[in-house]
Formats: sequence, C-alpha cells, structure tokens
Amino acid sequence: MKMRAAVLEDFGQPLRIQEVELAEPRTGEVLVRLVACGVCHTDLYTASGADPSGYAPAVLGHEGAGVVESVGPDVTSLSPGDHVVTLFSPQCRECVHCVDPRTNLCMAVREEQNKGFLPDGTTRISRDGEDIRHFMGCSTFAEHTVMPEIALAKISPEAPFEHACLFACGLSTGLGAVINTAAVQPGTTCVVFGAGMVGLGAVAGCRLRGAERIVCVDLSPERLELARGQGATDLIEGGENTVEKILEMTGGFGADYTFEATGNVKVMRQAVEAARMAWGLCTVAGVAGKGETLDIVPRLLITGRRVAGSSFGGVKGRDQVPVLVDRYLAGEIDVEPFLSHRISLDEVNRGFELMEAQDGIRSVIEFS
Ligand SMILES: NC(=O)c1ccc[n+]([C@@H]2O[C@H](COP(=O)([O-])OP(=O)(O)OC[C@H]3O[C@@H](n4cnc5c(N)ncnc54)[C@H](O)[C@@H]3O)[C@@H](O)[C@H]2O)c1
Ligand SMILES: [Zn+2]
Ligand SMILES: [Zn+2]
Repeated sequence: MKMRAAVLEDFGQPLRIQEVELAEPRTGEVLVRLVACGVCHTDLYTASGADPSGYAPAVLGHEGAGVVESVGPDVTSLSPGDHVVTLFSPQCRECVHCVDPRTNLCMAVREEQNKGFLPDGTTRISRDGEDIRHFMGCSTFAEHTVMPEIALAKISPEAPFEHACLFACGLSTGLGAVINTAAVQPGTTCVVFGAGMVGLGAVAGCRLRGAERIVCVDLSPERLELARGQGATDLIEGGENTVEKILEMTGGFGADYTFEATGNVKVMRQAVEAARMAWGLCTVAGVAGKGETLDIVPRLLITGRRVAGSSFGGVKGRDQVPVLVDRYLAGEIDVEPFLSHRISLDEVNRGFELMEAQDGIRSVIEFS
C-alpha cells in the first residue's frame, strides 16, 4: 500500500515527508494505522547524526498509538480493531529475560531491530524498489506501520490516542523507574533530577507509590511548576550546590530514593551523592553521550548507597503498559499537561524545533 511518511534521508537535514510503499505484514507481524505519535529526543538524536549507530534512509518515530488494521500469519494476541501502543522495547514472553521478573530487556529481536530491520532481517518500507529502514522497530512518523506482534501493547479502547502514545516511551520510563526499578516505599523521601517527560513521569510515580516528600530539580521554573502539578512537594533550581541543598532538607542524610532523568553525567553524580547513606538508591534513567562515564566515590557505595539503571522503566511492555494506561483512565495520572503541541505529520520538523527550544514537554503528531 501507499502511505505518507517522514523519511530521514541525510543526517542533519530536515525529514522529508513523502509517499512510500508499505508491504503486507508477514508471519508474526501486524499492520497498524497510526492515530497519534509523540516526537522524542531519540528521534532528533538520530536525525541530527549524533547517534553513531544511526542509519538512513529510515522512517523515524517510536511513540505511536493506533489501531490494528490487519494481522499476518500466526498472530494470536491481536485482531483488527484493537487499539495499541508501540513498544521499542518488545516483550516476547519466552526469552530468558522475559521469563525473569527482574528485567524487561527482551532478547528476541534486538539484533535486527538495531540494524533497522524487522525480525526476519528485511524491511516492509520501500520507495521505487529501494529499501527504507525501520527505526527502533517502530517507524511511527507514518500513516501506517508494520511491527512484530511482540512489540505492540493492546490498550483499552477508551484511552484517547493522543495521551496513550506518551506511554510508548518517556512517561512509562519515568513511572516504571519508580514503580519497577526502585519500587519506592510509602512515606519515603524521593528526589527527581530533571522535569522533562521522564522526570515528570517519575514524579507522578513517586506520588502513586505514596512517597511523603517529592523533591524535583530542574533548571527551568516552568518545568518545575509542571512537577508541582504532578505531586512534587519541593522544587529546586538545579546547579552546583544542589546536593548540599538536598542534604540540608533531609537532616544531613540525603534521600531514600533519587532518580536521574537528564542524561547529564554530572547530574547523575549529584543523584548518587544525594542518596541517603545506609540504603539510599539512585536510579539512572538518562542516556549519557557516547564515551561519557559516571564518577562515583566508592566510599559512598560502601556506606550503603546503591545505583541502578533503568531502561524503559523496567516496564514489560505488553503486560504493563496496558495497566499504566488503565491507571491513567482511572484518573490517577494527569497526562494532558505533557501534551504541549498538536501538530500534523507535515509539521514534524517543527516538532523538532519546539523540542530544541524546550517549548513544552511533548509535541504530538495527529494523523487525520
Ligand atoms: N532509560 C530509558 O529507557 C529512556 C527512555 C526515554 C528517555 N530517556 C532519557 O532520559 C533523559 C530525559 O528524557 P526527557 O525526554 O525527559 O528529556 P528532556 O530534555 O525533556 O528533560 C531533561 C530535563 O533535565 C533538565 N536538566 C538539564 N540539566 C539539569 C541540571 N543540571 N539539573 C537539573 N535538571 C537539569 C532540563 O531542564 C530538562 O527539563 C534523556 O537522557 C533521555 O535520553 C531514557
Ligand atoms: Zn522516546
Ligand atoms: Zn523476550
């Protein structure tokens, strides 16, 4: 079939919106009609050429929500008409990691996905006979996409797509870092560094887990106000002396839980140092630049602090994204403040500009 898509042709150049060809879903694959899609830093990171593992031509986008249009052979868990959220982090439910409750790092399709192919090593997207690669296994800056069944979470048909798509990446990452990775206990003190999509999701997660005190650190006063709306009790404008401020607020001890959602290794270090001696747990969600390292004084670890990392918030996507969406539908998570701009597919490059200007939390593409 023919469809419109935003294609990365050359790194550092605007995406080119054009008509491309999409082939039928093969075994284990599903054809999805996209209804909404968030524009995320990872899309821009690849488009800019900064990502050393990037490839082109490719259709970018990975924060999609839409409707199943048709399914290929052997697809058992989805049918036409189902509402789905796309998962760059799939869940096959069979591999050594999927059957273990400690991780969400499914091994099933990693290698091919990283190269821009579907699990069978080919692409479904093309243009005049030339293959166009899939991005993060999703390619959701397009009217339709073909994805593996194991990379689609079936969600409630009640959920508006423009909100549901935010659960495809940053929001679930923040919520999951708190709920899964740290498993924050009620009555505790938490500090969240960064109030972008991931950090704000973490603040909401701390509130859902019943944290007593939720401190949010960011450079932007507007973003700190959004954090207050998600349940932050204390706001700090970030800087050199952030750790001292947190120690002062906590009787000199530090926080029970800290979360890093900036991608800056200096902030990661602050998050480790702001965790309480004896049992403070620092969870790192930000993605640092290639080659950067995190500096930790070992004494901080010997005296009981721990450091954990979290990919997609440890969320096993097919099982847990639908649960998070249900909690949103039940009124427990306020998603509307994250949706800053509604744009069309043709305006996707404007979505990148808004993101670079830190104008709002998420621009969402709506497909008509
Ligand atoms: N682990 C995962 O699976 C996963 C998934 C999505 C995103 N991420 C990563 O998480 C990070 C956050 O993503 P996002 O979409 O929320 O990004 P974002 O850029 O919207 O938010 C980052 C926030 O950090 C703040 N910040 C920058 N420097 C700071 C400092 N010194 N002190 C305090 N705050 C500071 C910025 O003002 C901004 O509000 C990124 O590194 C992203 O790549 C990871
Ligand atoms: Zn993303
Ligand atoms: Zn798996």
